[in-house]
Amino acid sequence: MNRRQVIASFVSCAVALAAVGASGPRAASAQANVVNVYSARHYGALEKVFAEFERETGIRVRLSNASSQALLERLRAEGKATPADLFFVIDAGTLQLAAEEGLLQPVDSQVLRTVIPPELRDPQNRWFALTQRVRTIVYNSNKVKPSELSTYEALADRKWRGRLCMRPATHIYTISLVAGLIANLGEKRAEQVVRGWVANRPTFIDSDSRILENIAAGKCDVAITNHYYVGNALKKDPNFPVKVFWANQNAQGAHVNISGAGVTANALNRENAIKLLEWLATRGQDPGEAGLAGGNNEFPVNPSAQPTEIIKGFGPFKADLAALSKYGPLQAQAIKLLERAGYK
Ligand SMILES: [Fe+2]
Repeated sequence: MNRRQVIASFVSCAVALAAVGASGPRAASAQANVVNVYSARHYGALEKVFAEFERETGIRVRLSNASSQALLERLRAEGKATPADLFFVIDAGTLQLAAEEGLLQPVDSQVLRTVIPPELRDPQNRWFALTQRVRTIVYNSNKVKPSELSTYEALADRKWRGRLCMRPATHIYTISLVAGLIANLGEKRAEQVVRGWVANRPTFIDSDSRILENIAAGKCDVAITNHYYVGNALKKDPNFPVKVFWANQNAQGAHVNISGAGVTANALNRENAIKLLEWLATRGQDPGEAGLAGGNNEFPVNPSAQPTEIIKGFGPFKADLAALSKYGPLQAQAIKLLERAGYK
């Protein structure tokens, strides 16, 4: 392509975009049999659960994927003009911020109130948890004994120098983990802990599955990851040499986060969005491959649903559900703390 052709094609692109703008992407979003979902779930382009919903209801799920933070930014920027009907992210804090900023609307649903326990939904019904995930300690079972492990705080001990793998500060999993530490320990003590982790010179890897591969390969001994990555690795290889250790069991319990969703304030396909929410909280809780939790080895929110056999095998544990409502209010403080502590 020569320069003139490049310019011509750029102009025709701009014209095409302007044409979409004129009729409005929002107008195109309102269709009887569609639900537009902004989704931060990153476990396959179209998880089986959405395909199952489409098959059962005839409502097409249009997914737009990005990180929780990027989707919140998009909702903020688009305001009333957003094409999104359902905001589905993988962090309780992000859902709370969206709700507080007026980007989500209350949903008065008997189904959702019945099947989702109160601590896993917004008291004002603007968002609902659909799966639970536990961010906990994982270790190479050939190199570390479980008796050497106890708390997130104890990973600041000098004995772990050069042996840790950690997720970077930019990821929402890290931010909410630190928000949880602040909620439980206070800011001063939480900062000491994070500084201790940094002093242990961790290897920063921006993927929980790659962290696990590194542990399995002997490149680090201990890390903090979401439990389901171990479940998914064990599904592929039952001899995968990384084990889950439930952290902080003699204190508040292990750090829990959720994937969950809320209907956007100006959803054009509001009824379809509510149908999808209710479906995910009921039929979507099946422990099998086609379940939202089951397909990814997460814990269901619906107490009548069973977790997969693989994660049942991790044993019973105490979960810190009390901190969940504080990830939103403490998010900005956690980001600043990570930066101050020199956490990469
Ligand atoms: Fe994840």
